[in-house]
Amino acid sequence: MTVPPAPAFGEPIADQASAEVLAFLARRRSASAMALTGPSPSSAELDDLLRLAARVPDHGKINPWRFLILRGAAKDAFVARLEALAQARPDSPKATAALGKMRIPPLAVAVISSPVEGNIPLWEQQMSAGAVCATLVMAATAMGYGANWITDWYAFDDKALAILGLAPGEQMAGFVYIGSHGEPPQERVRPDLSTLVSDWNP
Ligand SMILES: Cc1cc2nc3c(=O)[nH]c(=O)nc-3n(C[C@H](O)[C@H](O)[C@H](O)COP(=O)(O)O)c2cc1C
Repeated sequence: MTVPPAPAFGEPIADQASAEVLAFLARRRSASAMALTGPSPSSAELDDLLRLAARVPDHGKINPWRFLILRGAAKDAFVARLEALAQARPDSPKATAALGKMRIPPLAVAVISSPVEGNIPLWEQQMSAGAVCATLVMAATAMGYGANWITDWYAFDDKALAILGLAPGEQMAGFVYIGSHGEPPQERVRPDLSTLVSDWNP
């Protein structure tokens, strides 16, 4: 699928209405990470997906996030290191079982929240990293792949994060798993907006 190039800096961006995007959002679903198989996006497609994911709102234009790509033998090596960590955990069977979500999908994109010193509140920088994850899931899905945003224990385990080389102050916003899925995902329960929406009255 062809992704148009980015507009030139300063170019007016008119007419963004898109019935296709609305229809996509009305039906979009994540795929089960354990059901993802090859093929995964090509290197060129992954470049496009990351470019789209990086177009998120970002207070101060400071890019408070970065990407780490896990695939092939490198991902296998990471999983092997995680298996050793899982065995040492008190919840070892559960922690080991959870590794299937990292082992099975052909591609994992680690989205790392990487805050920048300055006057932009940390919370806003972290929300921007979350927006990157959500946009990456949507872009990969729109490109015809299955995708799922997962954290799990290894997103919070200091030893696992050290293996990936996270610096002090950095946090894992999530692993976005991407691949092909044979079976379409089924719709899940959705929130009852009448319990979540209200008018504020002074
Ligand atoms: C920050 C974050 C972390 C998540 N971590 C996990 C996880 O560790 N394990 C899991 O099964 N689902 C996790 N999920 C949920 C999956 O992304 C889930 O499949 C998704 O919310 C399904 O909803 P959707 O089809 O509307 O996208 C996480 C979601 C978010 C936003």
